Amino acid sequence: MIAALALILAPLCAQAQGSPQIERGRYMVLTGHCNNCHTAGYAPKEGNVPEKDWLLGSGPLGWRGPWGTTYASNLRLTVPAMTEEQWVQYIKTFKPRPPMPWWSMKETTEQDLRAMYHYIKSLGPAGKDAQPYLPPDKEPKQPYNQAPLPPK
Ligand code: HEC
Repeated sequence: MIAALALILAPLCAQAQGSPQIERGRYMVLTGHCNNCHTAGYAPKEGNVPEKDWLLGSGPLGWRGPWGTTYASNLRLTVPAMTEEQWVQYIKTFKPRPPMPWWSMKETTEQDLRAMYHYIKSLGPAGKDAQPYLPPDKEPKQPYNQAPLPPK
């Protein structure tokens, strides 16, 4: 009887906080370096940012180069706006601007992408949308990282 109940309840519990899938997603986010760009202050503070503030976007910090100026998005808002299926499809086909390493992320297995989705969703929506992208001819406000310009 108890075994039967466990079988019924197991799939329902799989998405609860602290489930193996969510723990896996957290591990993927940490070792995938997402916080280094998508969490304000994470790199300068060598990772000492409370988890409740993770993935809220790069805040004021932009990356400027020949592509213009980009700001790392608030994944706490953009990820839950998609269904799990949409997220998997999106990551397999997306091509954001630099410095987002989309070519590495595309190699993530579907199982791990699903785990990341559930982890990010479990953090809950918070913060505001990232600053909009600026085209190359627009001067961004400080602070920004300037990428080397291509050789003339
Ligand atoms: C080197 C910095 C950097 C790293 C590392 C990085 N990102 Fe990004 N990411 C960015 C920037 C900047 C953008 C915005 C690009 C643009 O405006 O086109 C972005 C865009 C995205 C987008 C598309 C916009 C959106 O929210 O739908 C997703 C999804 C994303 N990143 C997820 C991740 C995940 C998950 C990781 C970790 C596996 C990660 N990124 C690691 C810098 C980074």
